[in-house]
Amino acid sequence: MGIRYLPRYNAGERTNHWLIVLFFIGAALSGLAFFHPSLYFLSSLVGGGTWARILHPFMGLAMALCFLVLFLKLWRHNVMNEADKEWLKHSGDMLRGDKSRMPPAGRYNAGQKRVFWIMVVSLVVLVVTGFMFWQPWFADAFPILLRRIAVLLHAISATVLILSVIVHVYAAIWVKGTVRAMTQGTVTESWARQNHALWHREMTGKQ
Ligand code: HEM
Repeated sequence: MGIRYLPRYNAGERTNHWLIVLFFIGAALSGLAFFHPSLYFLSSLVGGGTWARILHPFMGLAMALCFLVLFLKLWRHNVMNEADKEWLKHSGDMLRGDKSRMPPAGRYNAGQKRVFWIMVVSLVVLVVTGFMFWQPWFADAFPILLRRIAVLLHAISATVLILSVIVHVYAAIWVKGTVRAMTQGTVTESWARQNHALWHREMTGKQ
């Protein structure tokens, strides 16, 4: 009997996800260039300091807009439920690599859901605060004290987003067979059974 596959993301969702990744890399590297003089060399990746300054807000906004499209498609699957609380209690077992003790998960497990919402909140804070000191168009509308607070919150939420993306990529690589969900759009039935048993049951009707 051959390997059976289940669909997980369509072509539109995958294209959107990889556009987010592209804009994330551009916005993160150009932003880090302003964060500390020792990282200023990163600005050369987008054509130098002036270009980094011009492009950074547009790349950030493009990332957030693409994310909004993915958000509208996926938020319902990321709402925490009772089964997720049980999963979180066992997350230590998961980190030790003992999958057998994990309660069954739906389309996303509680860890993925947490990362999803952390991404949502940090992106909202990044966009709102970013507008508040975006020269020369919007910054003048805000008093200087508010702008200073915005700069601080922008840096904090950028740090949170970058850390959550590192966790996200690590988990995608660590759980074997996950990356193909975003490259080919499908996962194997055995991946689904092992990692997302409730979703597997939903998709196949099998116990
Ligand atoms: C090279 C970097 C990245 C890789 C390799 C990667 C890989 C993946 C993979 C394999 C999935 C499917 C997981 C599953 O269906 O169980 C996924 C889902 C997702 N990714 Fe990424 N990703 C990357 C970067 C990003 C970035 C930068 C963001 C956003 C800022 C992001 C946001 C998402 C979201 C929202 C989902 C859907 C998960 C959910 O709804 O809970 N990814 N990614």
